[in-house]
Amino acid sequence: MAPASRVSGDSGPRVGAPGADQEIAVSVVRRRLVADDVLELALARPTGQALPQWTPGAHVDVLLPGGMVRQYSLCGDPAQTGSWRIGVLREPAGRGGSAWLHDHAVEGTELVLRGPRNNFPLDDADRYVFVAGGVGITPVLTMVHAAERAGRPWVLWYGGRRRSSMAFLDELTGYGDRVRLRPEDESGQLDLATVLADRDPGTLFYCCGPPGLIDAMRSRCQSMPAGNLRVERFSAVPQPAADEPDGGIEVICQRSGLTVAVPPGLSILDAVRQAGVDVLSSCTEGICGTCETTVLDGVPAHRDSLLTEDEQEAGDTMMICVSRALGDRLVLDL
Ligand code: FES
Repeated sequence: MAPASRVSGDSGPRVGAPGADQEIAVSVVRRRLVADDVLELALARPTGQALPQWTPGAHVDVLLPGGMVRQYSLCGDPAQTGSWRIGVLREPAGRGGSAWLHDHAVEGTELVLRGPRNNFPLDDADRYVFVAGGVGITPVLTMVHAAERAGRPWVLWYGGRRRSSMAFLDELTGYGDRVRLRPEDESGQLDLATVLADRDPGTLFYCCGPPGLIDAMRSRCQSMPAGNLRVERFSAVPQPAADEPDGGIEVICQRSGLTVAVPPGLSILDAVRQAGVDVLSSCTEGICGTCETTVLDGVPAHRDSLLTEDEQEAGDTMMICVSRALGDRLVLDL
């Protein structure tokens, strides 16, 4: 699994949505392998100028040659504004973004970033339980440091295939038994019953990792108060067959004064772009939040993996890369 994209469900408010992204030219100032197939890149502006502020859980888009855009969590120290740090797992079965970074991002390589954007913010809590699987440690690492700085009790359960595949162990060793490492080849899979036995009132659970881990956490946490589990996904959840007819719809772009016919099979994003409306996108899978658009009228048929159930029900915003309409007309703030 690699950080292909970021999604938080059951989470607090997203920061930067809709469309607060800026493009930033950076170059690689350091690269090192921090685990088997996990490359850490430190990125800084060639001018030495400070980078924008960010908060734990934030990610950036990395704009790669050939139009590829990939999302990576920032895993450094938010107080260090001179450079940012990302961790990239090489995905042999991926679409080529992580392999390109592993093979070509050497010191001095120039890259363009977009963001930062935070779909997975660390909210205030009395206590935290962090659960990370594999490279899901990247956003969680920064949260652990932040919780420690804030003087809040926390524990981290960190699972991986084997110790050598688990990144940033060197940074975690100083935390003693609050970091509970579970390499699968030594201790089996993370025991979620044990993880979840530990739920004092006021505890927030944060989980990032492969789909199986997140789905298992979510199903075991159904009895918890809504919002006590915050998750971030790297890939879209397969959506069940939608109830709504996949017919054409009409989208009124209020600010642009355009009415756009969206035929079946074409996303709203692509249709409005073809009509000349400039909209940012990144994952095009409903998981990163870049294309989040305010709905002024009409009822969206949500197909994203990012908005919480409450947010989907409210229907105030939608991810126009994947979602459609329950009626035949939407008015959007575009
Ligand atoms: S949610 Fe990522 S581009 Fe739409």
